[in-house]
Amino acid sequence: MLECDVLVIGAGLAGMRAALAAHTNGAKVIMVSKVHPVRSHSNAAQGGINAALTDRGDSWEDHAFDTVKGSDYLGDQDAIEVMCSEAGREIIQMEHWGVIFSRDEEGHLGTRTFGGQRRARTFFVADMTGQAILHVMYEQLMKSGVQSLEEWFVTDLIVADGECRGCVAMEIRSGTLQVIRAKTVVLATGGLGRVFEPSTNALICTGDGIALAYKAGVPLMDMEMVQFHPTTLKGSGVLITEGARAEGGYLLNKDGDRFMLKYAPSMKELASRDVVSRCEQTEINEGRGVDGCVLLDLRHLGEKTIKERLIQIYEIGRDLTGIDITKEPIPIRPGMHYQMGGIKTDVDGRAWDVKGQWGGIRNLFAAGECACVSVHGGNRLGANSLLDTVVFGRRSGEAASQMAKDMKPTEVSEEKWLKSSEDKLRSLLAREANGDSVAKIRWDLGTSMVEHLGVFREEEGMLATKAKVEDLKRRYEKVAVQDKGKMFNTALIFGIELGYMLDCAETVVLGAIERKESRGAHHRLDYPQRDDGNWMKHILVHETPEGPRLSYQPVTVTRWQPQERKY
Ligand code: FUM
Repeated sequence: MLECDVLVIGAGLAGMRAALAAHTNGAKVIMVSKVHPVRSHSNAAQGGINAALTDRGDSWEDHAFDTVKGSDYLGDQDAIEVMCSEAGREIIQMEHWGVIFSRDEEGHLGTRTFGGQRRARTFFVADMTGQAILHVMYEQLMKSGVQSLEEWFVTDLIVADGECRGCVAMEIRSGTLQVIRAKTVVLATGGLGRVFEPSTNALICTGDGIALAYKAGVPLMDMEMVQFHPTTLKGSGVLITEGARAEGGYLLNKDGDRFMLKYAPSMKELASRDVVSRCEQTEINEGRGVDGCVLLDLRHLGEKTIKERLIQIYEIGRDLTGIDITKEPIPIRPGMHYQMGGIKTDVDGRAWDVKGQWGGIRNLFAAGECACVSVHGGNRLGANSLLDTVVFGRRSGEAASQMAKDMKPTEVSEEKWLKSSEDKLRSLLAREANGDSVAKIRWDLGTSMVEHLGVFREEEGMLATKAKVEDLKRRYEKVAVQDKGKMFNTALIFGIELGYMLDCAETVVLGAIERKESRGAHHRLDYPQRDDGNWMKHILVHETPEGPRLSYQPVTVTRWQPQERKY
């Protein structure tokens, strides 16, 4: 049995930031990740990270207001205030650690203007910001000596008497299961993007931590709020960064019209993501698209700017579509990108309610995309996700290590937990092939989710997907894993991940059917207006022996009363 004070599950930016904070606070930390840390999905965050620096004449209150408005007033304002007021120190910390942020003409840290924001406050490293920060964070982690279990897959959270005491994890190389006992556990396992097909998310984004926490008894909040990014590549759904529009890119329809001038005269292509995605989808649905897409035109930026600031996008265009974006517009469309909802936590990442109103599991923390603090509400602003990972990763690591200081080692029966995990895996491996495959169920799930829980939604379609998910859950109970071996059994891992994905999907669909209004990314054709009187509240989904149960929590409003949202 491995032992530590703080166990961090997941090694993207939120996980590594939590591990570093806990280590700095004197805790013995173990970090577990199913992939090598620099292959985690934070790698794919392209365009930047937001912070309002006062020496630029910006204020965190302005950033907070833009975030509240972007969230369509569903974000909890106390949490948004924390994130925005602590953003500057995180940027400076990362710069000091060695992140090579792009600079302006005078040599200061450069900024670009991202969607839904009234100022240029997005710090960036060309169009590979997440990757640059991730590598620097990993250097810091190696320097710290934190024990990092890389390519280990978590099969179970150890939960007893309402508290989390560690996990069971499989070393993927050997297939060996290990119990890891901890005083506190931080989940930082990222999002569930691949519940939708296509998605900008890496294939590893299968909602593992979200499902583990949910099954253990932590409610999930705002699960109906799924972000469709306005610029994803035709076909594959690969992300084309918002940085392209931040640098001045235009969106055109088949007639060459810059249609955002009509829909959002003030912010145009840089309105909030939910707004731009709906405008694009309207153009496509009303016959002004080009083969199911609209066009992103960057030609006027010039080759120098494109190759300096959007080099990855230039290469994606060239390699995946054969288009030279310095010479031709590129076809794009809205694509699933981010889950605003997740494991309900407070601003220190606690996944239990200190006031006893919504339940949860003691000693369990969560940060990053798997968590719902909630700072994004109905729609996240671009470049607030990297910020969320570092601010709430640090806060969770600090709180988890502080709590561990006052605790005795937890009691865990190694034998019992190993047996229960082994039995579960053995029963999955023992099933005989019945003609259905993990890949087929996964595809059917993803395509149904995009079809009926996309940019526009309505009751009938969502009910069809609900029935589909129920059917897929039944099929999943019988699906076989073809590789019966121990070493590097990725088929087994895909099989377990599919179970996590189905659990997550069910909560997204239930939340979406329940919310009978349009707010942020949740736009219902049958309820097209925002309805603050009835729905300015969070929807929570709880796992119970009788099936999922819904409850509600009020939205925290500190200083910004809801207003009509115009861009
Ligand atoms: O478009 C982008 O670069 C994505 C950034 C984000 O989702 O924050």
